Amino acid sequence: MIDIHCHILDEVDDGPQSLDESIELCRKLKDAGITGIVATPHFIDGGGYMPTPQLIRSKVGNLKKVLKEKDIDINIYSGMEVFADYNTIERVKNNDILTLNDSRYILIEFAMDIVPKYASSLIFSLLVEGYVPIIAHPERYTAEYRKSGVLKDLVYNGALVQINSGSILGDHGKRAQKEALTLINEEMVHLVSSDSHGAHRLLDNKDNLEVKLIKFCGLENTQRLMYTNPLMVLENKDIEYLTKVKKSFFLLEIVKNIRYSS
Ligand SMILES: [Fe+2]
Repeated sequence: MIDIHCHILDEVDDGPQSLDESIELCRKLKDAGITGIVATPHFIDGGGYMPTPQLIRSKVGNLKKVLKEKDIDINIYSGMEVFADYNTIERVKNNDILTLNDSRYILIEFAMDIVPKYASSLIFSLLVEGYVPIIAHPERYTAEYRKSGVLKDLVYNGALVQINSGSILGDHGKRAQKEALTLINEEMVHLVSSDSHGAHRLLDNKDNLEVKLIKFCGLENTQRLMYTNPLMVLENKDIEYLTKVKKSFFLLEIVKNIRYSS
C-alpha cells in the first residue's frame, strides 16, 4: 500500500520534530504494511508552515539515504498538503507548490469549520490548469461539505476525495466514521491514506483497515481505495472509480455505529 498523505518529514510542520522520530515513523509504517510514502507536509500560506519545494526535496533525499543505510525498505516521494485559500492558484502557477510525486495530482485541504466561497472556483481553476485536486479528509471537517452538496459538485466536476484510515477505523470518533462510510456509500471516495503525524494518527496495521473496508464495500472497491488508486496517483495515471456498495453492507455498519455510540 502506498500512503499518499503522510507527515513524515522532520521539522517542517506538526509532524516529526526530529530525524530520529521521522525514521521511527517510517519503520512503523513499513511494519504496518506500507511500501511507499508520499511526504505531504502542510503548506499554509501565511500560517506558519510554508516549506519550499527545494527544502522538501532535500529532506526527502536525506531521509531516503538514511533509510537505506538503516535497511528500512520503504520508498519516499515528495508532495505537499496545501491549505486552500485565495492565493492557492497563484502559488501553483509560481511553482511554490509540490504536487504528489510531481504528478498532476495535488492534495488540497479545505477549512474545517466553514465552506469557503472560493472552493468551487479554486477546484475549477486547478482543473483548467491541468491538475487533479484531491480533497484531503473531508469526513473530518465540521462544516457540512457533504450535506450542503458542495462536495458532490466538486467531485462531479473532477475533484477526487481522500479519506483517512483512522476515520474508517473509528480513531477520529463516530461522526467522522459515519461521514467516511457515507461518502464511500455515495461513491465519492477515491483514496484512503493515513495522514500520520509522527506517532499521532499512525496506521499501525493495514490489514485491520483492509478487513474493515472489504466488509463494508467489497474486495474490488477496497483494492481501488488502498492499492490501485494510490499507485495510479504516484504514476500519474487515471484512477479507478468505486462501484456501488451493496445496501446491506452500508446499513449494517451504520446500525453498528449507532449501537456502539449509544
Ligand atoms: Fe495532513
